[in-house]
Order: sequence, then structure tokens, then C-alpha cells
Amino acid sequence: MARIIGGLTSSHIPAVGAAYAKKQFEDPYWKPFFEGYPPVHKWLAEQKPDVAVVFYNDHGLNFFLDKMPTFAIGAAFEYENQDEGWGIPALGKFRGYPELSWRIIDGVVADGFDVCSCQEMAVDHGFSVPVQLFWGDQTKNPIKTIPICVNTVQHPVPTPMRCYRFGQAIGRAISAFPGNEKVVILGTGGMSHQLDGKRAGFINKKFDLMCMEKIVDDPEELAKISTADLIQEAGAQGLEFILWLAMRGCLNGKVKRLHQNYHIPISNTAAGTLLLENAA
Ligand code: DHB
Ligand code: FE
Repeated sequence: MARIIGGLTSSHIPAVGAAYAKKQFEDPYWKPFFEGYPPVHKWLAEQKPDVAVVFYNDHGLNFFLDKMPTFAIGAAFEYENQDEGWGIPALGKFRGYPELSWRIIDGVVADGFDVCSCQEMAVDHGFSVPVQLFWGDQTKNPIKTIPICVNTVQHPVPTPMRCYRFGQAIGRAISAFPGNEKVVILGTGGMSHQLDGKRAGFINKKFDLMCMEKIVDDPEELAKISTADLIQEAGAQGLEFILWLAMRGCLNGKVKRLHQNYHIPISNTAAGTLLLENAA
């Protein structure tokens, strides 16, 4: 059976895509952010996962306010990356894995999550930036990916607990897939940030660090937070943290934290990188 070996988290801010393209890894502004990644690269090189299941949010590229699925699962052979207006280079096509996508879709629907299945889906910075940060250039030996899009943009958005339970259903579906694949799960976006309105620039380090702690050992408790309280504590776009809860739901009750990095600010956002290994 396919095996979930761990979970990763990463910010997705578009400015990272621009810095990556310019190779500003040693630039004083960017260094403390990019330094969060080499320990994860080392683990990935050792573990050699076959598939990345990526929880992300679309920012108006593939879904707009006229049609907004709560949960949408990619079931395509490939996913075209486009820039929805940030001026960052488009990264071409990401490889899909429709066999596992359909297994996940079957599994979650049987479990009570009536998702939108997407046999064609363009992916924005919410997906491309984290995949690039972990796996680099996708034109040679690309990792197989399954994009899972969660609405964090237009209310009503799914509750933190609903996302955690959705992750649990996906975890069960992956573990029932008859293959030998090693699977990693990505929770992307977050942490605290608000891009507009009176609280533009808002960052809440205390809350972020609490979340980074609790998501390891007590995710069930953390997922009880209401959507309103999450927005109050993390900012309007800090709501993206529900993508981390979905990732955590896929993993076992017990996980081992192998690496953590927290850096503020990067662009307007608090960036958190985590590497969690699934424990038996
Ligand atoms: C930024 C953060 C985001 O989550 C996003 O989608 C776009 C921009 C930022 O901090 O610049
Ligand atoms: Fe975002």
C-alpha cells in the first residue's frame, strides 16, 4: 500500500518566486528565509518520496468569485502554472498522478466530503512556490503531484476542524491505495498575515509559534479554533493556516518534528517551515 512518510509546511508568497528566479539565496534579506529549506532537502534526498499531495489555495487564477468550490482535487496528468498578476516567472507544467487522485476522490466522497474533481486545473503561486522550494526545477525528473485546493478566499470558508477531518479522510484514502509509493503531504501558505484593510501588515508571532507547537502534538485541540478567531489571531490571509491543519490530518496521531524554521517578516508575511515525520 502507499505510505505517507511525512508532512512539510511552507509559505507561498509570490516574492519568493521572484527571489528564487534571481537566485537571491545568499542575499541578506532572503537568507534567513531560504535557510529553512536545506534540512528538508537533505531529508527528501534520503527518503526519495514519489508523490507530493499539496494542500493549497487558489488566489483567483483557476477559480474566481463566480465559482468557488470549498474543496477541489486535481485529477489531471499535468497542471500548468500561471502567474495571476504578481510578475513572477511561470514555471511550466507540473506532473500529475491521476490514478491516486481518483482513489483519493473516491475515498473522500465515500467518507462524506463531496468534492469538485478537476481534470484540468491551472495552479498559481500557492502551489508552485512551495513545490519549487522543496524540489526545485520541475522540467527534469518532476515529482508526481496532487493539488488539493481549499477555499480560503470567499466566505463561507470551511472550518479549521472540517479541514483537519478532510485531511484525515485523505490520509485514509492514500493508505488504501494499492502501490508502493512513498507520499509526502504539503501544508502551504500561512502563517499570520493580512494584505489589506486597517490591519494590513499584521503579524502575530506569539500565535504562530503556538500553532507550530500544537500542530505537532495536539492538532485535534488546535483545530477547534473558530474561523473568526483564526482570522482575529492570524489575519485575514493567515486563515491559510487551515491548509496546514488539512496536512496534519493526513498524518498519524504521533509525528516527529525533524526540523522547524520561523522567520518574520518575509514580504508581508510570517513564514513557517516544518518537517514532520510520520511515527508508527
Ligand atoms: C503575500 C502573501 C500571500 O499569501 C499571497 O498569496 C500573496 C502575497 C505577501 O506577503 O506578499
Ligand atoms: Fe496567499
